[in-house]
Amino acid sequence: MSNINLVGISGSLRSGSYNTLLLEAVQRHLPEGARLSVARLDEFPLFNQDRESPLPAAVGAVKSALRSCDGVIICTPEYNLGMPGVLKNAFDWLSRPPQEQAEVLHGKPVLLMGASPGPFGSISAQNASLSMFRALRMPVWNEQGLIVVTHAGDRFKDGTLVDEALQQRLQQQAEGFCRHLLQLRARNDE
Ligand SMILES: Cc1cc2nc3c(=O)[nH]c(=O)nc-3n(C[C@H](O)[C@H](O)[C@H](O)COP(=O)(O)O)c2cc1C
Repeated sequence: MSNINLVGISGSLRSGSYNTLLLEAVQRHLPEGARLSVARLDEFPLFNQDRESPLPAAVGAVKSALRSCDGVIICTPEYNLGMPGVLKNAFDWLSRPPQEQAEVLHGKPVLLMGASPGPFGSISAQNASLSMFRALRMPVWNEQGLIVVTHAGDRFKDGTLVDEALQQRLQQQAEGFCRHLLQLRARNDE
């Protein structure tokens, strides 16, 4: 596949985060020609409209990666049945200022997934994020169903995904998502 640029965002800042490991596993299962750069959210301040100008450098860096990407892959944990504040805070920053929102976010397809050590695999957090993506006009790609990684502690060993069925699933999702992005690009070029 030719030159697909993806931005990956983990909703967890924790070292050893299952969601960051999941994102890194996706990175290893991308089709040829696709590359995924992992956005760093650890230096995003708490959103404050008084601090929008000058824009914090960490926010500007992720905005410029998003501007030139074809699609976004999100791996989110679930906190108290919702999306983590880290992820919401990041998109509040990334959606600003309103006159730049379209070029940074609108129309960028999202591949959404998440992991949890429990039996529900972040499904509520994923659901909770849908209204935000709708507001930001970011279509969530769902042709191959949900990726909900339950019992994450059994699937990763020493920081690596060891569950072969999940590896295969990630590869299929990544291939499907990249195919979709290429189709969109071809349509836009027409
Ligand atoms: C404040 C807090 C709330 C949590 N709430 C949930 C929850 O609602 N559902 C769930 O499955 N796990 C919940 N967990 C457990 C997280 O899924 C677990 O900490 C997970 O490892 C976080 O993702 P990470 O490994 O990517 O950091 C919660 C953890 C914290 C710290």
